[in-house]
Amino acid sequence: MQIQIHDTLRGTLPDGDSHPYRSGAWRPQHTEYDAWDLDVDGQIPDDLNGVYIRNTENPLHPPIERYHPFDGDGMLHSISFEGGAARYANRFVQTDGLLQELDAGESLWAGVAELPASAKADHTIGARPRMKDAASTDVVIHGGDALASFYMCGDLYRLDPVTLEPRGKSNWGGSFPVDGVSAHPKVDENTGEMLFFNYGTEAPFMHYGEVSAEGVLTNYIDVELPGARLPHDMAFTENFAIVNDCPMFWEPEAMAAGLYAPRFHRDMPTRFGVIPRGGSSEQVRWFEAEPTFVLHWINAYEDGNEIVLDGFFQQNPSPRPRPEATFEENLYRFLDLHSMKSIPYRWRFNLVTGTTKEGPLSDEILEFWMINGRFGGRPYRYSYDALPADGWFGFEGIVKHDVETGSMETHRLPEGVYASETVMAPRDGSTAEDDGYLVTFTVDLINDRSHCLILDAANPSAEPVAAISLPERISSGTHAFWADATTLP
Ligand SMILES: [Fe+2]
Repeated sequence: MQIQIHDTLRGTLPDGDSHPYRSGAWRPQHTEYDAWDLDVDGQIPDDLNGVYIRNTENPLHPPIERYHPFDGDGMLHSISFEGGAARYANRFVQTDGLLQELDAGESLWAGVAELPASAKADHTIGARPRMKDAASTDVVIHGGDALASFYMCGDLYRLDPVTLEPRGKSNWGGSFPVDGVSAHPKVDENTGEMLFFNYGTEAPFMHYGEVSAEGVLTNYIDVELPGARLPHDMAFTENFAIVNDCPMFWEPEAMAAGLYAPRFHRDMPTRFGVIPRGGSSEQVRWFEAEPTFVLHWINAYEDGNEIVLDGFFQQNPSPRPRPEATFEENLYRFLDLHSMKSIPYRWRFNLVTGTTKEGPLSDEILEFWMINGRFGGRPYRYSYDALPADGWFGFEGIVKHDVETGSMETHRLPEGVYASETVMAPRDGSTAEDDGYLVTFTVDLINDRSHCLILDAANPSAEPVAAISLPERISSGTHAFWADATTLP
């Protein structure tokens, strides 16, 4: 393996840090690498061509008071494949907040488990006051740029998807929203468009927008909500976008006193806003369903008069705290997908009658899905989901879920080895939905290493096709994206 160190950033975290989300599978890195001629166990298929890119919460400094993993600075890991060879790069996302905190040598903004009033720096952008836009949640590739985004809304930081050279922020010809963009903008591979939403604490509380393949904002509308909400993700079909108003939101009275405490309202419905793509505020139609909180939607499509939406229904969005648990233990119970009991679930919205039908697709605890992107917004069959660890935020394997028959095939990693959000990379020239590869980064605590693992998407429980060594063990993280070489400049 050929390795070149690009830079090592000056962090101030203590040696031997024992914080549960800054050690073990979540141990952050400070060094940025370029690597090529990578050591491979097996063989990289020559019909796998494109980029797998994953974001990471990778903190540099101790918090002002209390760390939550979603506060960590964004770091992207990119592995690109061309004709049977691969190259790897990792880089911090050069956010405004990262650069200011590097200068200061300490944290300047309040994390999600801290009071905004404790921040040393002023408000910048995003739904919550005086929080750093860490661009650490999600990443998509659109218009030839990797775009790193943040769950509390913020800028879209642009990077070269292969080299991770920074390219500044999305500007869209001066029309980038002042409220920012939420994590989980959606790229429709069939049209090249990107759909997005944002949210905040002032009416109308949400906006929905569309960006062309050329990076022009072609639609941006108000979505009126009854109050400040905490939507995390959205979905789309060929002709509609779907936003949500789940009954989990910051308590208005507490918020007025500067405390941002989410509460689940068991007596309120979940509401879904169905928006014609290219449509106006007046065209948003609302559907009601059982109360829940959904972190991630899997896919959506049109079926006659109905819109079908699949996502992970939390059966217990607000798990009870253990009476004897510490504040941190109680805080981190929201990172344990087993405590929220997230299961694959299907909603059907009837556009003629305005009614909703809904129910589980499985009772397996799963989350953090990926599909073959060519089937995004279209009828589809396979979802490739993470198998969450019990009790903490980590992925023990990958499950291929056939949403048509309900059957599942699991690739469980050895004990002490954890997966990332795993993408489905279609084989060059493929037409069948599962004809391709599953690509993931692993965090191996036993051997203190990381690999990029390639599995056969048609037969994921088989031995890996290839395991590619990375220069250093990487940290667990959140979201990932696959872009075919054909979509890259
Ligand atoms: Fe997410």
